[in-house]
Amino acid sequence: MAFRKIVTVGDDVLRKKCFEVTAFDEKLHQLLDDMKDTLYKAQGAGLAAPQVGVLRRIFIIDTEESGYIEMINPEIVATSGTQYVTEGCLSVPGKWGEVTRPKTVTVKFKDRYGVEHKIKAKDFFAQAVCHENDHLNGVLYIDKAENLRNSSK
Ligand code: CO
Repeated sequence: MAFRKIVTVGDDVLRKKCFEVTAFDEKLHQLLDDMKDTLYKAQGAGLAAPQVGVLRRIFIIDTEESGYIEMINPEIVATSGTQYVTEGCLSVPGKWGEVTRPKTVTVKFKDRYGVEHKIKAKDFFAQAVCHENDHLNGVLYIDKAENLRNSSK
């Protein structure tokens, strides 16, 4: 097991646009394994590579709807509907806010071996895909959240 440090808001790395992954190699697999360990330790629903200081188009998600899933070079190709949902982020500790997200998204992505997939995500899974995909473009949910507040313990 290897954990990576999760960078928090204020760090420039969270505001950069990430680069496409071109090598589906051992180094990528190690990064993904470390991200998975880091996500589980932090008890989050998703983690994007820039959150561990790596400017690559990679995120992982673990929700009830999706199970654990890795998405590399993801591209949201269709959305439908809207949902008004509460959101937080491991890089913005102790805060919550409401955002409007699509109700469903169709996302194309590659797995760790470079094989392309296309799936339709809905509800919390769709929310997570949108939240993590924003990270790859330097966008944080606090940029669009309403009623941003500190979590009550
Ligand atoms: Co986040």
